[in-house]
Amino acid sequence: MNKNKSEFNKEEIDADFEKLNAPISMPDLAGNEVKYITDCVNSGWISSQGKYVKKFEKDFSAYTQSKFGIAVMNGTVALHLALLALGIGEDDEVILPDLTFAATINAVLYVGAKPVIVDVGIDDWCISPVAIEKAITTKTKAIIPVHLYGQVCNMDIIMELAREYHLKVIEDCAEAHGAEFNGQKVGTFGDIGCFSFFANKIITTGEGGMCVTNSESLAEELSVLRDHGMSKTRRYWHEKVGYNYRLTNLQAAIGCAQLENISSILKKRDEIENLYIDGLQDIKEIFFQSKFEKRKKVTWLTSVLLSPVVNREVFIKKMSAVGIDIRPFFYPLSTMPIYSQFSNEQGSPVALELSQRGINLPTMTCKNSDFYATVISQIRAFFCQTMEGNDE
Ligand SMILES: Cc1ncc(COP(=O)(O)O)c(C=O)c1O
Repeated sequence: MNKNKSEFNKEEIDADFEKLNAPISMPDLAGNEVKYITDCVNSGWISSQGKYVKKFEKDFSAYTQSKFGIAVMNGTVALHLALLALGIGEDDEVILPDLTFAATINAVLYVGAKPVIVDVGIDDWCISPVAIEKAITTKTKAIIPVHLYGQVCNMDIIMELAREYHLKVIEDCAEAHGAEFNGQKVGTFGDIGCFSFFANKIITTGEGGMCVTNSESLAEELSVLRDHGMSKTRRYWHEKVGYNYRLTNLQAAIGCAQLENISSILKKRDEIENLYIDGLQDIKEIFFQSKFEKRKKVTWLTSVLLSPVVNREVFIKKMSAVGIDIRPFFYPLSTMPIYSQFSNEQGSPVALELSQRGINLPTMTCKNSDFYATVISQIRAFFCQTMEGNDE
C-alpha cells in the first residue's frame, strides 16, 4: 500500500465526522446511584457496614440464583478468598486458561499454589475441557473456568471432570454477569463464583467484587476471611489470619442501583453488539463471537476476531487517530516471562492465535445508535478504503 492511501486522513472520510470520544467503555450511572449514595452520606454509613452492603449481597446472590453473596473490594480478592476458603495452598495445582486477565493467575500465586495454564477452545475462546483433562495430575485441586468476554464455558463437561477427579471449581465470572448455561446462571456451577464490579464491567461499583456460593460453611469462611479473620461470635477475637477485603456501603449503594437495571443493561449491550453485527456483517475480515445452543452468552465488550491478513496494530492506531478506542485481546499468560514457567507442556496455540487476532470494540449503554453508526462507519472506512495492503 502506498503511503497516501494508508494515511487515515479524516478529510478522506465522507461522514460529517468530528473526532469521536469513543472510549472502550464507560459506566452507565443513570439510575438511582446518586440517590443511594446521598442516602449513605446523609446516614453517615460510608464504610463497610450499613444497609446497602447487606442488600447488595442479598439481591446480587438472588440474581445469580445463589444462596449466599459475600461482597468484597474487587474481583481479584474474590478469587483470592475463594481459593483460601477452599483450602487451596502450597503443593496444590490449579488449572486455568491461558487467555484471561492476569488476576486469575495472580490469585493462585497469592495462596502459594501452582497455576497450570492450559489452552482455550477455538470456537468459544474459553478453557478447553480436553486440555483440562490432559493437565490433571494427582496434585490438581481445582479448576478456574473463566467465562471470557461474556462467553460461557462448557460447564457440563467441566463439572463432569470435576466430579470424576474430585476437583473444586471456582468460576471466574468477572466478564459475564447474567450469562447462563442450560438456563442456569454462571457462578452457580462450581463451589464459588467470583464477580468483578470494576468500572468497565457489566455492572459496576467503581471497584468491587463478590463471591457467590450455595454452601453455608463456605459463605461463613469467606466472610470471616474478608473481615480480618475475626470470630463471628466474639468481637476482636481472631481465629485465623484474615484480610480487610470489605466493600464499602458507598460502593454497595452504587451496586444496588446498578442491579436494579441489570436486565436493561444486558439487553442494551446485546443491542449494541447487534448494531455492530448488522453494520459490519459484509466485512469478511471480521468474525463475531459464536453462539452455542446451551449457552446464553452476554455482551460485555463487543469482542471480535480479525482475519489474520489484517494488520491489527495499524487498525487500532488508525481508529485511535479518529478517537475510537479499540483494545486488543489479553496476551496469553504463558507469553509473559513471570508466568511462562506455569505453561502446560501441551502449549497454547489457540490462545496465542486468538490473542493476536482479537479486539474489543467500544460498548457503552450510555451512547445511542447514532454514536455506533459513526463508529461503524469509521471501521467500514478502514476496511473499504485502506485494508488492501495494510502492512504499511
Ligand atoms: C477475567 C477477569 N478476572 C478477574 C478480574 C479482576 O477483577 P478486578 O479488576 O475487579 O480485581 C478481571 C477484571 O479486571 C477479569 O477480567
